[in-house]
Amino acid sequence: MSAPARLRVDLAERGYDVVVGEGLLAGLAEHLPVPAHAERAALVTNATVDRLYGDAVRAGLAAAGLEAHTITVPDGEDAKSLSVAETGYHRLAAIPLRRDDLVVALGGGVVGDLAGFLAATWHRGVAVAQLPTTLLAQVDAAVGGKTGINLPEGKNLVGAFHQPLIVLADTQTLATLPERERRAGLGEVAKYGFIDDVAVLERLEAEPAAAVAGDPTVLTEVVRRGVAVKARIVAADEREGAERMLLNYGHTIGHAIEALTGYTRYRHGEAVALGMVAAARLGERLGVSETGLAARTVALLDALGLPTGGVRLDPGAVAEVLARDKKARGRGLRFILCATPGRAEVVDDVPAGAVEEVCASLA
Ligand code: NAD
Ligand code: GLY
Repeated sequence: MSAPARLRVDLAERGYDVVVGEGLLAGLAEHLPVPAHAERAALVTNATVDRLYGDAVRAGLAAAGLEAHTITVPDGEDAKSLSVAETGYHRLAAIPLRRDDLVVALGGGVVGDLAGFLAATWHRGVAVAQLPTTLLAQVDAAVGGKTGINLPEGKNLVGAFHQPLIVLADTQTLATLPERERRAGLGEVAKYGFIDDVAVLERLEAEPAAAVAGDPTVLTEVVRRGVAVKARIVAADEREGAERMLLNYGHTIGHAIEALTGYTRYRHGEAVALGMVAAARLGERLGVSETGLAARTVALLDALGLPTGGVRLDPGAVAEVLARDKKARGRGLRFILCATPGRAEVVDDVPAGAVEEVCASLA
């Protein structure tokens, strides 16, 4: 087992470390910076994750001198709701969690987004430690400070930027993830390869079966590399004015697919996989991407057991979803396209006809 990697998200007074390694939760007290005067920790988790890792984390919090109070939220996306947040606030009040205390998020992106939002708004902002336990959360959701909940009108409509105190990504926890969750997370990992670090792609291409099976050496390496990309981009563009948009590679069509399939058919990373296939084909068609990118994308995603087709999209419905995006921005159709593996760019005024054709190619 190699020593944990420590990556800095360099945001001056809001800067923090993301520690990536095996067995971090077992040594929590050693890695957790306890804020001055903190006495209590609200441990936000769900029953699935609590059963697996709750006791280790409570022991670590006690060893760090904190009184732990567990707040168990429902498992699944429905936990990112106003009603669950309201229950959470009542639980924080009952503790009572004070301004100097700490929220600890233990779980996947759902728990991280909800707990981060509670922390962002409780007493106008208390510290949150993110302990992500899914591949998607380790490589993406827990890093970068986006927190939020859903409304019936749309996903992540209510939220806040609230950078964590620390992110501890214990890659040993990925061993207990259902295989489908690991595969979906690998879709987001592959994204970092296409937009920035081609070594991520090469590692996944060399050992796709090991990555899917949860091999700790492969996963620790690709999580570390993915986090390094995200840390650098967030530090350069915290509020997504420019470069952070590159993190949305594969997400334009991916989000449309999720919305049009009711957020139930695909895991997020699976929809992003389809979106990356569409983006690669679009890039080649527009002469932005090198020839062969789409074939390389499909080959890798197939090897990871991610979907690369089989979805029939009504062109009118896709256009409507994309137009809502466009309306929000007030510009023509905008896509993130990959020029060559390891380099992506923002492309505006993409012709609607080309988008329609690549969407049809996913059938
Ligand atoms: P999730 O949080 O629902 O977790 C997936 C499932 O795995 C759940 O059933 C969970 O209980 C279980 N689980 C978690 N860790 C486990 C473990 N180690 N072993 C066994 N089971 C485990 O899903 P997710 O994919 O992690 O997160 C999706 C959410 O993340 C969405 O709400 C999305 O909007 C959000 N997200 C946020 C950001 C951001 O920047 N804040 C980025 C991407 C996604
Ligand atoms: N998940 C994209 C971002 O954090 O900006």
